[in-house]
Amino acid sequence: MGSWREHGMDRLPGNPSSSTEKLMDIQGSKFIVTGGASGMGRHFTLSLARDGADVAFCDMNEEGVRAVEAEAKGLPGKVVGFVANVAVEGQVEKLIADAAAALGGLNGIVNNAGIIRDGLLVKVDKETGAVQKLSLAKWQQVIDVNLTGVFLGAREYAAWAIANKGGPGVIISISSISRHGNMGQSNYSAAKAGIVSMTKLWAGELARYGIRTGCIAPGFTRTPILEGMPPAMLEKMVQPVPLKRVGEPEEMYKAIKFIIDNDYFTGRCIDVDGGLVL
Ligand SMILES: NC(=O)c1ccc[n+]([C@@H]2O[C@H](COP(=O)([O-])OP(=O)(O)OC[C@H]3O[C@@H](n4cnc5c(N)ncnc54)[C@H](O)[C@@H]3O)[C@@H](O)[C@H]2O)c1
Repeated sequence: MGSWREHGMDRLPGNPSSSTEKLMDIQGSKFIVTGGASGMGRHFTLSLARDGADVAFCDMNEEGVRAVEAEAKGLPGKVVGFVANVAVEGQVEKLIADAAAALGGLNGIVNNAGIIRDGLLVKVDKETGAVQKLSLAKWQQVIDVNLTGVFLGAREYAAWAIANKGGPGVIISISSISRHGNMGQSNYSAAKAGIVSMTKLWAGELARYGIRTGCIAPGFTRTPILEGMPPAMLEKMVQPVPLKRVGEPEEMYKAIKFIIDNDYFTGRCIDVDGGLVL
C-alpha cells in the first residue's frame, strides 16, 4: 500500500483545494473588516495589521474610524478606514471597490459589524395586563445589519474576487452563542443562526473559485458593551459559563487566525464561548 501522495490523492482532478501547497498566510494578505471602530472589529483590524496584513475597515462611526486609523500608525500592515453602513447595498459595493483600490487587492472579508435590539417576542405588563410586542422596527434593524450586512459583504467580496481572479480568499463572519436561541433575542438569534447556515452553503458554492468560508460564535466577550455593565450583573452572567469568565477579543482573533491559516477549513462555525450551553 502506497501513501496517498504516491497515489496522487493529494491532487484530485477538479478539486480546487487538493493542493498541499500553503495557500493563505496572514502576513502580506489584504483584508476588509466591518464594524472596525470598536470592540472586536477594532481588535481584529489592529491585530491583522500587527501580524503583517493590510486592512481596510469600515464603520458608521466616523470619529471611531479616524481614531483606529491613528492607533494603527506604525504597525507592519497598512490600515485604511472607510465610513460605510453594511446594511446599504450601494455603500457595500463602493466599500469593496474602494478597499481593493486602496490595498491593491483583497484576500478576504471579516463580517463583524453587528447590533442588538433585545426584547421578548411578547411581554405582559404586570400592572395593566396589556400585551407588549417586539416591534417590527427592532426586528428589522437587527436583520438588516446582522444578516443582510453579512450577505452583502460576502456577496460583494466574492463577486470582486471572481471578477479580478483574486483567490485564494476567505469569508469570515461573526456569529454568536445566541445562534442556539437566546431568550429575549428573536431578531439577533435568527440573524446569528442564519450566518452559520450561509457560511456552510457558501463553502459549497464558492470552493470552485478558491474561496473558503468560516464563522466564529463568540460567547460573552469583553467589548465596550460588557465594560459598561455593573460588576454584579457581569458576575451573574458568567456564573453558568464553565470557565467562569468572559472571553477576550484576542481569543476570538485566534479563531480568525486559524480559519485564515488552515487551507483545509471551510463551511464551519467555531464556538469560542468558554463552554457555555444556552
Ligand atoms: N461582545 C460580545 O459579547 C459578543 C458576543 C457574541 C457575538 N458578538 C458579535 O461580535 C461582533 C462585534 O461585537 P462587539 O461586541 O465588538 O460590538 P461593538 O458595539 O463594540 O462594535 C460593533 C461595531 O460595529 C459598528 N456598526 C454597527 N452597525 C453598523 C453598520 N450598519 N455598518 C457598519 N458598522 C456598524 C458599530 O459602530 C461598532 O463600531 C458583532 O457582530 C456582535 O454581534 C459579540
